[in-house]
Amino acid sequence: MAKICLCLTAKTLKRNLEILDKYRKYADLAELRVDYLEPDERLLIRRFPEQAGMPVILTIRRHIDGGQFVGGEGVRINLMARGLAFAETDRRRNFAYLDIEDDLDVPSLEEAAGTFGTRIIRSYHNSQGTDSNLLAKIRSMRHSGDEIVKISVRANSTKDVLHLLKAGKECTDQEKILISMGHYGTYSRILAEQFGSTISYTSAFAEADAPPAAPGQVDVQELSKQFRFRTITKATKVYGITGNPLKATSSPHFFNTIFELEGTNAVYVPFPADSIIDFMEIANHLSLEGVSVTIPYKESVIPFLNSMTDEVQSIGACNTLILTPQGWKGANTDARGFSGSLLAFLDRENFKRQRVTVIGAGGAARAVVYELHRLGAKVLILNRTAAKAADLAAPYKFAWGALDERGIAKVEKYHDIIIQTTSVGMEGSGDSPGSADPLASYNFSGREEVMDLVYNPKMTPLLKRASSAGCNVLNGYDMLIRQAQYQYVYFTGKEFPDHLLSRVRYGEI
Ligand code: ATR
Repeated sequence: MAKICLCLTAKTLKRNLEILDKYRKYADLAELRVDYLEPDERLLIRRFPEQAGMPVILTIRRHIDGGQFVGGEGVRINLMARGLAFAETDRRRNFAYLDIEDDLDVPSLEEAAGTFGTRIIRSYHNSQGTDSNLLAKIRSMRHSGDEIVKISVRANSTKDVLHLLKAGKECTDQEKILISMGHYGTYSRILAEQFGSTISYTSAFAEADAPPAAPGQVDVQELSKQFRFRTITKATKVYGITGNPLKATSSPHFFNTIFELEGTNAVYVPFPADSIIDFMEIANHLSLEGVSVTIPYKESVIPFLNSMTDEVQSIGACNTLILTPQGWKGANTDARGFSGSLLAFLDRENFKRQRVTVIGAGGAARAVVYELHRLGAKVLILNRTAAKAADLAAPYKFAWGALDERGIAKVEKYHDIIIQTTSVGMEGSGDSPGSADPLASYNFSGREEVMDLVYNPKMTPLLKRASSAGCNVLNGYDMLIRQAQYQYVYFTGKEFPDHLLSRVRYGEI
């Protein structure tokens, strides 16, 4: 099973020991980054392994390789020798590993390491990009049978991560560490086991004076607690979410918590991807069992499906992939998540005799309109681009209009329920205060039921205005939870655990 290595990047040995003590239970080994130490401290590293009380990697990373060391190579080699000197027969008092870059050829150092049981990690770094010849590189780097090859290269795209993953798969006979640095490659650290790596490097993000040692690292507690790194084996079922950009998503927290509480051997990982084609190849290589799909891939993923539910067919958008023996099956849980949430809020079974206004005509609106039609509502669709409202309304024979004075005047006849489906009013959407309410010229009577699919902030300007006029208002949080619950059922083939329902609803999970 892959091990967790806590990178120690404080300026003094004492502080590194404090950090190690605080996070000891989450780590299997530590990496002493001598290049981050103050010059005087660098001379005192020899006793560190004994004080650490766990296996320690000795690393003095050069600036060109993404480290802090700017001195000459002679000085650096001397420091390494100092770390290995006066080796003890009790190996726990020696450094367990020495990181030597592939282009550093000092046989005496390697001999000294070998004599006292210090294993060599032969490393290659590229902080700019991913080399095209990775397979040859991995194969050529191991000089002796006992070395671990470490490749740490920057992923500038999903293709780069795919390249590393494929190269690693060709070298299953070799002990190695493969890291795609940066945002695109974070999952190479969580899924070290699946990438064929023996060690995953992490940092303690809460310690401001010990910065993360490389871009894309995961916090040590998050790796241990949220992703349950130590339970991930080749048998662990892997699920995840893809989208671009995939910033703050609560789905990994939701699924991983449920998997843990249910004792399910599964993990759910974020897969930010700049290409759906490359991501689908990654999904196949990593044998993913299920995927949540979000913006902007809900439509472009459809050509990859082997089969799909009626919802996906009619809505033209897919937010859930399930692996079947025949290939990927696509489902859309946004639709049921929406109707389940709104019907529960209204305490209704369906939308018969309800006249409803929908604002927006994008992917989210398509799922909403599909459900409103299925459950018997009469609908008016208003959109900034009127032609898109017309296209969405046509197959259902619904009314439509632009989001202008004339269009908004029509709401008078469709005002039992008003549903806002655009990103207007969402935190970070960049709306100016005056333009964050898409229905600003409509005066609420107080009898409308108003739903906004946005859940961050909890109350959008539209909901605030509706609420002050006396309307009942609902945001998109409950819909989000419900669509995730439906995904859980698709992913696992099991009912959502009843005893967790109320905890999920009230945001405890
Ligand atoms: P989603 O899947 O979230 O619905 P989408 O398919 O890109 O995303 O659709 C975005 C919707 O939000 C559209 O209805 C869009 O209106 P246009 O069709 O006119 O583009 C609407 N939208 C986005 N920004 C908007 C804004 N500032 N004002 C009004 N409508 C906006």
